[in-house]
Amino acid sequence: MDEKKLHELLKSLTIKEKIGQLIQLSGEFFDVKTATTGPQKKLGISSETIDLCGSVLNVSGANKTREIQDNHLKKNRIPLMFMSDIVYGFKTIYPIPLGLGATWDPDLIKKDYSNTADEARASGNHVALAPMVDLVRDARWGRVLESTGEDPYLNSQFAGAMVKGLQHDFDKTHGIAACVKHFAAYGAVESGKEYNSVDMSEQKLRQDYLPSYKAAVDAGTKMIMTAFNTLNGVPVTGNQWLLKDILRKEWGFDGVLISDYAAVSELVNHGFVATNREAAESAFDATIDIDMKSPCYANELQPLLESGRIQSERVDEACWRILKLKNDMGLFEDPYRGASNDAEKSQLLTPAKRALARKTADEACVLLKNDGILPLSTEKKVALIGPYSDSQELIGLWAVHGDVKDVVSIQSAFTEKLRDNNLRATPGTSILEEDSDYHGMGLTTEQFKNSLLSAAEKQENNHEVSTLCKWADVIVMPVGEHTVQSGEAGSRSNIELPQEQIKLIHRVAKFKKPIILITISGRPLVLTDIENGVNAILQAWFPGTEGGHAIADIIFGEVNPSGRLSMGFPRAVGQLPQYYSHLSTGRAPETSGHSSRYTSKYNDIKEGPLYPFGFGLSYSHVEYHNLVVNSNTMMKDEQIKVTVDIENKSDIPGIETVQLYIQDVFASVVQPTKELKSFKRVVLTAHEQKKIEFSIFPEMLKFYNSNCQWGVEPGKFNVYIGPNSEDCLKSSFEYV
Ligand code: GLC
Repeated sequence: MDEKKLHELLKSLTIKEKIGQLIQLSGEFFDVKTATTGPQKKLGISSETIDLCGSVLNVSGANKTREIQDNHLKKNRIPLMFMSDIVYGFKTIYPIPLGLGATWDPDLIKKDYSNTADEARASGNHVALAPMVDLVRDARWGRVLESTGEDPYLNSQFAGAMVKGLQHDFDKTHGIAACVKHFAAYGAVESGKEYNSVDMSEQKLRQDYLPSYKAAVDAGTKMIMTAFNTLNGVPVTGNQWLLKDILRKEWGFDGVLISDYAAVSELVNHGFVATNREAAESAFDATIDIDMKSPCYANELQPLLESGRIQSERVDEACWRILKLKNDMGLFEDPYRGASNDAEKSQLLTPAKRALARKTADEACVLLKNDGILPLSTEKKVALIGPYSDSQELIGLWAVHGDVKDVVSIQSAFTEKLRDNNLRATPGTSILEEDSDYHGMGLTTEQFKNSLLSAAEKQENNHEVSTLCKWADVIVMPVGEHTVQSGEAGSRSNIELPQEQIKLIHRVAKFKKPIILITISGRPLVLTDIENGVNAILQAWFPGTEGGHAIADIIFGEVNPSGRLSMGFPRAVGQLPQYYSHLSTGRAPETSGHSSRYTSKYNDIKEGPLYPFGFGLSYSHVEYHNLVVNSNTMMKDEQIKVTVDIENKSDIPGIETVQLYIQDVFASVVQPTKELKSFKRVVLTAHEQKKIEFSIFPEMLKFYNSNCQWGVEPGKFNVYIGPNSEDCLKSSFEYV
């Protein structure tokens, strides 16, 4: 409807109808049989609140959403909006975002998210509670799975691409609304512990943690979700500085702001307010428009209005944002927004979508080690030994609407490549050995009992392992974390492979056959103690619906791996948080004049990551030469050009991700030794040489000074270009 009519609708609403729009409830409240007894009583809200609520959490499917919408519209003039956690795919599941980040291919990822929008819309979803764009530098935190990694610039490229993908051609019949999360700095929880506190300077917040959210706002995200954590002692959910001053005023975001799950009521648990009424007032004053799954807005907004603690204009403002979004997506004309069984049949899990998921997984896998054993010839006798050999659990914890039944396992993909007598497989062990491993991970006893092997099965496995090791020419070991060991509430203090899998690797190593490790995980794992004992390591993340095919594409050489880490792999968990764009300190080991002891390092491990940010191997080998800056000085408001020659020294065509880093060598607030400022994915045929050019302009040199002003200071800048954040050619220039 036109906005004039929409304004009239808003004016015609009762206060209860308006407040209803500001409440989101989860699916069980709409199950007409059970709602009034269980969930409603537990949450402590009235059945009228259910009738008047504005949006639904995590219900999908054309039939289900249409049924709920029909029931709702019998009692309400305003259609429900359906929102779901659609973080890296809907029915077709892509690699986890940590893998998407490793593609360094935002254009491809934008297509993935457009496909996801089409699938989700066909199934009655109007809003994706995604992308998650939190910067993460501590792999202990389980939600690193949902992040594209440790770098502000790279994360910003993906944040924009994902929002534009989800909201492609956004109108009454295209795209779905993005709801970027979790604003802000949730990825910096202390010690990588879930739901923990966040504390940092405003400079670090603005320079490292806010850029990806700003990129999402600039890309036009329709919604933003706030974070659970405190920021410098003030919970984000009630943080007026962050939400009103920065997000609304400074950035001009006027879209819908939704709290995270029950976070409004958690303001009491934080010790920020004493009652639900104060919690409602605090979140409301911080301009949160929708209260997700807490009783605060439902029970307290009307009394707050009647007592004059909140103003009706603010209620109208919040309600207007929601009505406007519903109107922009055409819900008043079509409350189902095109959802139907036919739409699902034509959109879900199509061959074209599977093909794109496979291409994405091809690009997301990162080859971390290869002594030349890869790619494998299909003439080899291959033993698959590891708990992920024939597992379809390759989609990770947050693939809420995906189905493991649709997943191509590694074994089935290998079977397509190898003649049948050339492949034999056994799990060798379960993913986790003891049921105690599972406690606290939210699994039922039944669920994890199914995952454990009996003593007899273990005995049988040992026999099978020895038999296969004797038979095989080469052993491929798909190992990794259990799905429940990462994702939300998946923080771990130890991020090595599960012990029984490490024992399996040592057992197999005794047979002196080449070993290729395939690591399935939702985070960078500590591989330090095993990397020496294997010939190759392929980091596959949770690679998604087409994961098995992608892994086989790379292992047998049909795809030349191009993935590059968007987050470094630590040597030890004790190094965390760890990131490449660190400060020099006064005693950097490589530049300090002090004896080696008295420099900034640990005494018990080598300095730096095991595999650095930007790192990844290919079957081709590219050399970098001749880094040239076209001027030694950059004048104010000018730009300079920097070029580098790259050459593919092999017969294998490939994609090289050329990375440009800059260092502000001296500044009033010291700056990182390197910061990624640009990159280019370059196709190189066999033995092809190319000259790659980057422009460097003043905006790339700016930082936040001690007054939090964004600006550039004159002085020396180093330029680094290379295949990753460590092996770079170097030059420099003066900014005058
Ligand atoms: C969860 C997550 C958030 C998700 C929401 C709804 O607790 O923090 O990412 O979108 O609740 O499921």
